[in-house]
Amino acid sequence: MKVAIVGGTGAFGRALAKRLQEVGTDEVLVGSREAERAQATATELGVAGGRNEEVVSGADLVVLAVKSNATLATASELAAAIGTTPVLCVASDLRFSAEGVLPGRHQGSLAEEVARILRAPVASGLQSFAAANLVEGDSGDALICGGADRAKELSLELAGRLADRAIDVGPLENSRALEGMTAVILNVNKRYKAHAGIRLTGLP
Ligand SMILES: NC(=O)c1ccc[n+]([C@@H]2O[C@H](COP(=O)([O-])OP(=O)(O)OC[C@H]3O[C@@H](n4cnc5c(N)ncnc54)[C@H](OP(=O)(O)O)[C@@H]3O)[C@@H](O)[C@H]2O)c1
Repeated sequence: MKVAIVGGTGAFGRALAKRLQEVGTDEVLVGSREAERAQATATELGVAGGRNEEVVSGADLVVLAVKSNATLATASELAAAIGTTPVLCVASDLRFSAEGVLPGRHQGSLAEEVARILRAPVASGLQSFAAANLVEGDSGDALICGGADRAKELSLELAGRLADRAIDVGPLENSRALEGMTAVILNVNKRYKAHAGIRLTGLP
């Protein structure tokens, strides 16, 4: 499939593009707000690149991988360009406090807000995939949530290239749990100087 990574110049986007390029099944495009930055990253990784608006057009799946606090503004800016193309949101709403990293909200999730902004179907997942693990480690299970639509279907297909198991964890509302789990992982990483992932037990 043709995968456009919005914010593909960042830590996560670059790692995802690199991994997908290694797997070799998909056509990968990295996007940026700046054409030159996109091109530099694309050349380095051996993929295609362009401005975010450009790479989303004609893609089968858009991965929304900008800095988390820019997710909603970016979704609004790209809404017309994305149209009805399925989207995978990998963002987490977090709050950084003196005690540690905390879930950013009591209700809802970033991904649900993205789904309200776009006309496209939206899935959410891969929050537990540290960029470092995507490149050279064990990422654990790939957890994806979303409605019974093309976004979840394609996101699970993509996730299956990155992990031994891509797991459907239910409707998009569960993005709140996935996003909150990022806070758990970041605290673990800090405490144990690790790049932790998640693996579910008891599955067939
Ligand atoms: N890092 C990880 O290990 C990891 C793991 C799982 C999920 N995630 C999620 O993946 C997403 C990206 O994380 P990251 O660590 O890669 O972030 P990042 O490196 O800080 O930023 C990614 C890209 O976002 C773009 N960006 C920054 N500010 C922006 C703004 N105000 N408006 C629009 N675009 C902006 C930049 O691209 P340009 O300047 O080129 O436009 C940047 O290269 C986040 O939602 C994060 O929660 C990250």
